[in-house]
Amino acid sequence: MIPPIRGTHDVVLPLDSQRWQYLERVVHGLCRRYGYLEVRTPIIERAELFEKGTGETTDIVQKEMYTFVDKGGERVTLRPEATPSMVRAFVQHSLEQHGIAKVYAMGPMFRYERPQKGRLRQFHQLDVEVFGVNDPAIDAEVIDLAWSLIVELQIPEAELVINSVGCKNDRLKFHEALLAALGDDLPKLCSDCQRRATTNPLRIYDCKVPEDQPIIDRLPHMLDYLDEPCATHFAAVRAHLDTLGIPWRISHRLVRGLDYYTRTTFEILGRTLGAQNALLGGGRYDGLVKDLGGPDRTGIGFAAGLERLVLGLPEGAGDAPVRPAFIVAIGDETREAAIGLLRDLRRAGLPALMEFEARGVKAQMKRADRAQARVTLILGGDELARGEVTMRNMENGEQTTIARASAVEAVRALMS
Ligand code: HAM
Repeated sequence: MIPPIRGTHDVVLPLDSQRWQYLERVVHGLCRRYGYLEVRTPIIERAELFEKGTGETTDIVQKEMYTFVDKGGERVTLRPEATPSMVRAFVQHSLEQHGIAKVYAMGPMFRYERPQKGRLRQFHQLDVEVFGVNDPAIDAEVIDLAWSLIVELQIPEAELVINSVGCKNDRLKFHEALLAALGDDLPKLCSDCQRRATTNPLRIYDCKVPEDQPIIDRLPHMLDYLDEPCATHFAAVRAHLDTLGIPWRISHRLVRGLDYYTRTTFEILGRTLGAQNALLGGGRYDGLVKDLGGPDRTGIGFAAGLERLVLGLPEGAGDAPVRPAFIVAIGDETREAAIGLLRDLRRAGLPALMEFEARGVKAQMKRADRAQARVTLILGGDELARGEVTMRNMENGEQTTIARASAVEAVRALMS
């Protein structure tokens, strides 16, 4: 057998796929309630889109992208995140002119990271974006959607953390203050932090190296360097979250690993996930649409890791199995009639199964049990001759004889 690629994952077992489908149903339902349009963008884009969009100083662009030159000489990338693609689509299709500002997508993303629990090289995200709305109420609404997702999925012990990373002007002041505060401690930090100090000092807050933490804990906080409009915006977001009844905590270290963020940033952390504890993360990105060649429109959104949501689901979530009607044909002469009944049930929208290889009644009944049939329809020579079917309620073992002509409706009544 040819082994799979490291960091990829099959969804194969019935319970697995039921959990995924349940999750997807909840996502579609919620996004519809909040007024989002589902869009689907390609998983392959020009490398430049992410280099410019996600940002040159990010780990994603520096170390993690699946980028290659295709046969036509184009440098292409398997998308590591969806936001730049969503911005591209928003601009390219002039969605604004169609009155569309809120979009979402689900699909695979690719990052060449070290695989571990909750961290894959091919993973899946729900991505949610809103374009051109400046009012802080939208920040809170986006967070509310994220929070509702976690609540509806009944993922236990989730925690919302928020921060503001300000705007370009605040950032310059803050970077100076950060470097000044680091002073002689800078050479003591890890090599990644040394690099960050010159490329994007804010990113020092992302550092996970244990020895660096006491130094980083003493550094100034971005919130103390916000200009008046950014501080007012952040205060309004917090007030709206309070109105919505969503508990939040400020994390000064929440600077997020992508370059485009401005003002509000947030994550929802799950306690049951281990080291990779971010169920979802996002924030505002007010300069990105323009930077990618579009009109000067603000943006805000988040992405949730679907594998992490599935891992966080409580036992039994979405596990309601399909309980079909099962047809048992006794003797070869009833097979065509049984197949006709199978067809009628399915065309009527009912889940129905029949076993073609096991001919004996006992063997067929065993399969009905294994398929967790809700009802079994038994068709023997006598029943066939009389235009009847025997219907067995698999929950209580009750057996009745019904007319073949009314079988579909009888099954529907029992299964509803
Ligand atoms: P991100 O924080 O890079 O943000 O990813 C969002 C979520 O995707 C994470 O919280 C995590 O649940 C999941 N995730 C990320 N990497 C992996 C991985 N290697 N394996 C499994 N799950 C992973 C973004 O991607 C931004 N585009 C979010 C955003 C949208 N900001 C504004 N709009």
